[in-house]
Amino acid sequence: MRPFAASAPELVTGKGAGVLPRHVAIIMDGNGRWAKQRHWPRFAGHKQGVEAVRRIARAARAMGIEALTLYAFSSENWRRPESEVSDLMGLLRLFIRNDLDEMVRDNVQLRVIGDYRRFAPDLVALIDTAVARTAVNTGPILVIALNYGAQAEIAAAARRLAERAQAGTLDPATIDEAMFEDELDTRDLPPLDLLIRTSGEVRLSNFLLWQAAYAELLFVDTLWPDFDADTLAAAVEIFGQRQRRFGGL
Ligand code: IPE
Ligand code: IPE
Ligand code: MG
Repeated sequence: MRPFAASAPELVTGKGAGVLPRHVAIIMDGNGRWAKQRHWPRFAGHKQGVEAVRRIARAARAMGIEALTLYAFSSENWRRPESEVSDLMGLLRLFIRNDLDEMVRDNVQLRVIGDYRRFAPDLVALIDTAVARTAVNTGPILVIALNYGAQAEIAAAARRLAERAQAGTLDPATIDEAMFEDELDTRDLPPLDLLIRTSGEVRLSNFLLWQAAYAELLFVDTLWPDFDADTLAAAVEIFGQRQRRFGGL
């Protein structure tokens, strides 16, 4: 595990300040461990995790980040006990109910990536209404990844292109990266600049595999419920210090 503070000596210099990532994605991990440290039920960690979502969505807006994508429920998280899955769904319901008015007021565009239509019908309806209500907004984009899995997203994109080719409306020889990207859930978002994972785990867990091709990766030990505006600012500062080469010199 890389200690967050120690990996950022450049913070002192302030070099690179002002280079803002357009699109930041976060694998919000460590809710369970945060609760365990306190001998509290896992639910308490998830509840604090929602507070962190609120905090970080606001902080990202204040910093001028165009798009923030948060991994809230993976296509693999169904493997958790049913009670935990239903706790997470309940918290999602509450979050949308409580925060939608603020998002509308703050000109936020709420979007969802992932196969969220597998959720309970009332939750699907709530999500659709929330997305529709903010669709006219023109400000910062908040993307929640729900029942998201990058491999399924890529397979679905390939399937749709194959269907068009089979129907004779697409020449397979014309399929390129840009056309493929147009089939991904992230098609209308700015390119991913910075991908952060909290809690010390160093893996992508099936998140934005295509989009991360040239993203800067940052793994921090902070548990998600402890992630705050200062942690985000420090991450953005580190991003500003990175030299992105995209294969060039
Ligand atoms: C992240 O925290 C939240 C979700 C995956 C929904 P975890 O629940 O994975 O927390 P840990 O990894 O058990 O600490
Ligand atoms: C990744 O966290 C998924 C989300 C943050 C929603 P997990 O806690 O599910 O990932 P693994 O199982 O440790 O890889
Ligand atoms: Mg986890």
